[in-house]
Amino acid sequence: MPFTASAPALQPPAPTQSAAEDLAAVTRADFPLLADQACLGQPLIYLDHAATSQKPLAVLDALQRYYRHDNANVHRGAHQLSARATDAFEGARDKTARFVGAATPREIVFTRNASEAINLVARSWGDAFLRPGDEIVLTVMEHHSNLVPWQQLAARTGARLRHAGLTASGELDLEDLRAQISERTRLVSVVQISNTLGSHNPISAIAQLAHAAGALLLVDACQSLPHLPVNVQTLGADFLVGSSHKLCGPTGMGFLWAREALLEAMPPFLGGGEMIQDVYLDHSTWAELPHKFEAGTPAIGEAVGMGAAIDYLTALGLERIHAWEQRLTAHLFQRLQAIDGLRVLGPTPQQQPDRGALASFVVEGLHANDIAALLDASGICIRSGHHCTQPLHRHYGISGSARASLSFTTTIEEIDRFAEELASSVSFLREHG
Ligand code: ALA
Repeated sequence: MPFTASAPALQPPAPTQSAAEDLAAVTRADFPLLADQACLGQPLIYLDHAATSQKPLAVLDALQRYYRHDNANVHRGAHQLSARATDAFEGARDKTARFVGAATPREIVFTRNASEAINLVARSWGDAFLRPGDEIVLTVMEHHSNLVPWQQLAARTGARLRHAGLTASGELDLEDLRAQISERTRLVSVVQISNTLGSHNPISAIAQLAHAAGALLLVDACQSLPHLPVNVQTLGADFLVGSSHKLCGPTGMGFLWAREALLEAMPPFLGGGEMIQDVYLDHSTWAELPHKFEAGTPAIGEAVGMGAAIDYLTALGLERIHAWEQRLTAHLFQRLQAIDGLRVLGPTPQQQPDRGALASFVVEGLHANDIAALLDASGICIRSGHHCTQPLHRHYGISGSARASLSFTTTIEEIDRFAEELASSVSFLREHG
């Protein structure tokens, strides 16, 4: 379907049952790996969706179909196959644009992942427009990918970094954020849903604060895009980054959305084929948006796979997904809170009902890696460590935590089984530790 700015976003089918319909029952059969009882030699309970999502058949089939029937390089050949590959690739851009509410697909730049998208902004916009003394406001809950590129940019330009803190419940301290923003602020860059705390940051309010100071807002939407509707216009963002593999698509693929005028003003990030209009021996001119930012042969199959993942999530309905995952999260918290000595980081569902579908926790006297290893022996996959948020863990005076992260494919029974195995692992480690 050709993209037009006024084309309505694909609407999810109207829920026919209650708002918190059991989506695991609806979707489980679509995910071959989740049904593969033999892959670990015992039933698998996958609770590491925040690290990477599992892939539905629709995505696996799209990848296979692309490589079996449409594979060629894009934007280059006059032959039919190249035209077909180009249509499939640009079709994925149209889907991505509609998914986030972009004004035009020219605002979608494909990248390798969300980290590369943030680096693109730091290298291109940051190097071109920041001056010594300018400030970038971040938060202590950011993923390393939303900290390190700004540290590198600050070292190159003399810009300064400021960091907003947290409330006692592990939510963003909006008053502190307000205090960090000043007329020196050029950019505020925040995660929408923390991959560690699950906190859901009030992006529209943050956009107002940033814009009132004349600053831009970048949103890291990696942990929100697979879980609830995200629209760049209602959020009021200027930049937004996303990751394919977090939203049921392939790895090696991500994207940057930015307002067209910003992208027009930004110089290219990487140089090479595809991003040029004309090349001379001593200088070059740049291609139109978004190709100016896409040097080299892109990840064509991966883009097509991400497009299929977006179709899958959209057809399922992000509102429906969010409703079911809120129910799952409430159940997860209830079960975790019943374990003696266990402390969950981040707000409870009572404190923040639209929080993310994950729980990071620490158990007094025990190491998160030991807990994760024991659960793994029972076929239960969770993440342990610093989750790429070392400064946040330091803020809490800990080196790591264990994290269970959910998806719409998760069942109540899986959460119960996880909680039971976790309780016995904790008892075992206390006895034998
Ligand atoms: N950022 C990913 C996570 O939270 C890898 O696990």
